[in-house]
Amino acid sequence: MPKKKSILDLRKLKAAHEHLAWVTAYDFPTASFAEQAGMDMILVGDSLGMVVLGYQSTIPVTMEDCIRHCQAVRRGAPNTFVIGDMPFMSYQISDEEAVRNAGRFLKEADMDCVKLEGGVRVSSRIRAITDAGIVVMGHIGLTPQSSGQLGGHKAQGRDIAGARAVIKDALAVQEAGAALLLVEAVPPEITRFITKRLDIPVYSIGAGHCNGQLLISSDLLGQFELFTPKFVKKYANVSEVVINAFTEYIADVKSGAFPGEEHVYRVLDPMDEFEKLFSEFKK
Ligand code: KIV
Repeated sequence: MPKKKSILDLRKLKAAHEHLAWVTAYDFPTASFAEQAGMDMILVGDSLGMVVLGYQSTIPVTMEDCIRHCQAVRRGAPNTFVIGDMPFMSYQISDEEAVRNAGRFLKEADMDCVKLEGGVRVSSRIRAITDAGIVVMGHIGLTPQSSGQLGGHKAQGRDIAGARAVIKDALAVQEAGAALLLVEAVPPEITRFITKRLDIPVYSIGAGHCNGQLLISSDLLGQFELFTPKFVKKYANVSEVVINAFTEYIADVKSGAFPGEEHVYRVLDPMDEFEKLFSEFKK
């Protein structure tokens, strides 16, 4: 049975220069597989809007969607540090609303931490949630909820002005009290600098080496076919496995090969008794 990591363990692992591996999960089975494999942490990302619910972006995802999926993940991975992702408009309006919604992740879904996107511009939200006693992970660089303002899902910090903005965001997140930081789609040189400069653990999705790596489970497993970012490494081709299995099943049903003898229940009384029963109901 793995022991759930605390933020103290995560800090010690940064000090020991160990790299953590974590993935997103949205449901009971994936969470359970991740825990059995020894994943260090799990994120219930609002990416669930795209990879599970079939939306074009994360924008339509609601608090109710997130809470429901966080609950399923917690049931599947009771001994893993799980982070609940705050969806669009759950923290943008006011510090009070941000704290109320962050609290729901803990009270209703037993999350260990909440994640919100943005640096300088959400520092008062991070401070308010942290002051409520909740562990916060910041998320900077490419922030999908504001991809409209960024001109699309584009890498950030690639020129001096962009790198300055990313570094300022990282410093603001730590200053506001966040315990952890996720950097998305930023050149590795910038991430390396931030990782050395900050005391808190810094993790990457598409941002090179630091204190650990996150990948979207559906990308890693080859389950999401609409697009694959440059930073994804596919470790399996689950779509192909599933389509092949479904195709074979359809063929078996049509040919009568399924169900076989081994897939049916045998009668318990003599068959002639059943024949009598059938004759009672004959037309
Ligand atoms: O929702 C999510 O999965 C995320 C990652 C893209 C970091 O926030």
